[in-house]
Amino acid sequence: NSVTDEVPGPKRAQNRLTETRENVFVPRGKFENTPDTDSALVANRQWGREILKRSENTDLGIATLKANEVSSNEQVVEIILDVVEASKSWGALSGKERADVLRKVGVELAARRGELLEVMAAEAGKTLDQGDTEVSEAIDFAYYYAMLAEQLEEVDGAEAIPVHLTLVVPPWNFPTAIPTGGVLAALAAGSGVIFKPASNTARTGAVIADILWSAGVPKNIMKLVKFTDREAGKYAVSHPAVDRLILTGGYETAETFRSWRKDLPLFGETSGKNSIIVTPNADLDLAVKDVVYSAFGHAGQKCSAASTVILVGSVATSKRFRNQLLDAVSSLHVAHPQDIKSEMGPVIAEPEGKLLRGLTTLGDGEQWAIKPQQLDETGRLWSPGVRSGVKPGSEYHMTEYFGPILGVMTAKTLEEAIELQNAPDYGLTAGLHSLDADELELWLSKVQAGNLYVNRGITGAIVRRQPFGGWKKSTVGSGTKAGGPNYLVALSDWKSAESQA
Ligand code: ALA
Repeated sequence: NSVTDEVPGPKRAQNRLTETRENVFVPRGKFENTPDTDSALVANRQWGREILKRSENTDLGIATLKANEVSSNEQVVEIILDVVEASKSWGALSGKERADVLRKVGVELAARRGELLEVMAAEAGKTLDQGDTEVSEAIDFAYYYAMLAEQLEEVDGAEAIPVHLTLVVPPWNFPTAIPTGGVLAALAAGSGVIFKPASNTARTGAVIADILWSAGVPKNIMKLVKFTDREAGKYAVSHPAVDRLILTGGYETAETFRSWRKDLPLFGETSGKNSIIVTPNADLDLAVKDVVYSAFGHAGQKCSAASTVILVGSVATSKRFRNQLLDAVSSLHVAHPQDIKSEMGPVIAEPEGKLLRGLTTLGDGEQWAIKPQQLDETGRLWSPGVRSGVKPGSEYHMTEYFGPILGVMTAKTLEEAIELQNAPDYGLTAGLHSLDADELELWLSKVQAGNLYVNRGITGAIVRRQPFGGWKKSTVGSGTKAGGPNYLVALSDWKSAESQA
């Protein structure tokens, strides 16, 4: 039929695929998530089962034993002064000396992969495959920032001067990779660190801190804190001794932080409302797989997740892609991660507010192609939802929900699809599925987002190869990409001097 006719023949597809991939992707390098080779997990399901069994009884209370509990402004000052003082000796080390410690952190992270997977399954509901990739990313950060630390001391004749204090405030959705990346970047640049894990994943934060200390990061250079009082947290964020603040979280949180301190030196990686465009020149089977993984991996709780799929031309008008997509979504095995077959686990907490609305209500002209269902008494386990008929400019089109929902939009042309893709206030990730080089060129010239992916999923940026960070409201502050060559440069102060004599 006409739809099949529009699918590229195997030869054309092969040629175009090779061509587009070579054009867009830097060749595979050293710093990559390589869970299938780096981790014993994939090869050893028995080990995975043991980890998940233990995760049923993981002691989540231990986090408070390791963290400095901070409940007053006086304690904030005390801890800040301690780290600032201690940072002088850390900053005085050579980049090579700091890099050696970071590489030991990489070794320790790999050695304690099972413990991290266990605690992430227990407190974040992470399935093994999602957690495994994340540990690999954390290891990548360790080796990559070690390499950058060795190159940092002089750039273009200017000398890097380490700052004293970086406050790292990561989210709960990547409780291993994101904090490890932020903390190690600051340490690599010679700064002392105060690390405040997300409260939902405080135990994972405590394990990471322990890994860093065991690998040789001095305890007074990197302190784990828990603010038991919101005012003390606010006081710390606003404190002028904080030289850099690395925040990954919602746009509103970043704006609140900035309202507390106007000159806050903020590295804010914030929200996303991301989509994947599928054109008639796509490999549709591949597109289905990538859309499903990008939308529902970790139950859609990624700032990089695909929240919308935009179908172009005959992909929109025919039933083929839709049927395949709906089949794939409804066959996902949804279960708590303790079931080793789980392909999609729970959300972090019982949905309320925006997420609950996204899971239960429809906008004008929308229909449930698959209606999300609450699956058990925890309130956290939801089956994935797909809504069709999403209209341009609607609430769904513009809002980040951070959960297992996918909206379907349609466009007559690729140009129209790109306009829909660019319309939200955010610009973090964006995807195109097409094997046509002209379409690719058009898309690359118009799309407004920081991380672009062609013929692959739009989550799981690889350290160094895909430095991560967005445009518009997806970034607040410096806009420097994590896992990229300028990150340590931006986390340092710089001095250049010239003498006439
Ligand atoms: N860096 C994470 C990703 O790319 C958020 O999915």
